[in-house]
Amino acid sequence: MAKATPVVHVDKVNAGYLPGINILNECSLTANEGELIGIIGPNGAGKSTLLKAIFGLVNVRDGTILLNGEDITNLKANKLVAKGVAFVPQSDNVFPSLTIEENLQMGVFQNPKRFNERFEFVTGIFPDLGKRRHQRAGSLSGGERQMVAMGRALMIDPSVLLLDEPSAGLSPVRQDETFIRVKEVNEAGVTVIMVEQNARRCLQICDRAYVLDQGKDAHTGTGRALLNDPKMIELYLGNLAEL
Ligand SMILES: Nc1ncnc2c1ncn2[C@@H]1O[C@H](COP(=O)(O)OP(=O)(O)OP(=O)(O)O)[C@@H](O)[C@H]1O
Ligand SMILES: [Mg+2]
Repeated sequence: MAKATPVVHVDKVNAGYLPGINILNECSLTANEGELIGIIGPNGAGKSTLLKAIFGLVNVRDGTILLNGEDITNLKANKLVAKGVAFVPQSDNVFPSLTIEENLQMGVFQNPKRFNERFEFVTGIFPDLGKRRHQRAGSLSGGERQMVAMGRALMIDPSVLLLDEPSAGLSPVRQDETFIRVKEVNEAGVTVIMVEQNARRCLQICDRAYVLDQGKDAHTGTGRALLNDPKMIELYLGNLAEL
């Protein structure tokens, strides 16, 4: 049987912000259709930069990024959204002065005719967003805002959803809820690439993960294999990996 084309294929990418300084060093990653991919690693390893490189927010100097086999290296974010790439950044990811419903409308502004159909899908996964549609996003808790941000990203019916630390800054209960929702989104058929600081929880729910170290994909494997790898525990997971 022919091998399926990956949804996202990052191949030996070098990228950085300042001239002559690469943050990503020959970094590679593959996300196949329907997979939930985790990205973990120490602070400053380049996890956010990798998502930004996929989403056209940092210049890729070498290497290629493919979306469903098509070269999207250095395409701008608006073009990528039109092609089905959705990105939820680490912070400032909702419009606080707009209502929940207006935030979701912003998500589908390139194709407003799809609003009703997508609103139904998103509120199927996040029922509270429907119930509270007229509430301003700025008045929501951190966890609720994350749901709005994810909901907004899902409005485009994405081929892939890029999430940067969706559980950051949330209480343990809210973190659990966020991971459950991410898993539900993935089970609804959306390929997800998720950066997480909560490495243990991330490895528990993802299909496969990449450990980034100094801008390079240092290790990869199934979530379960990485969780149980003594070297991984020693180097990257510490006590967090103890169940
Ligand atoms: N806009 C920028 N201009 C210059 N350097 C930057 C910029 N953004 C990030 N960097 C640098 O790139 C490196 C990687 O940052 P990045 O945010 O990708 O790390 P990260 O793995 O997401 O870390 P964290 O776990 O803290 O979120 C860091 O050394 C950071 O200082
Ligand atoms: Mg980051």
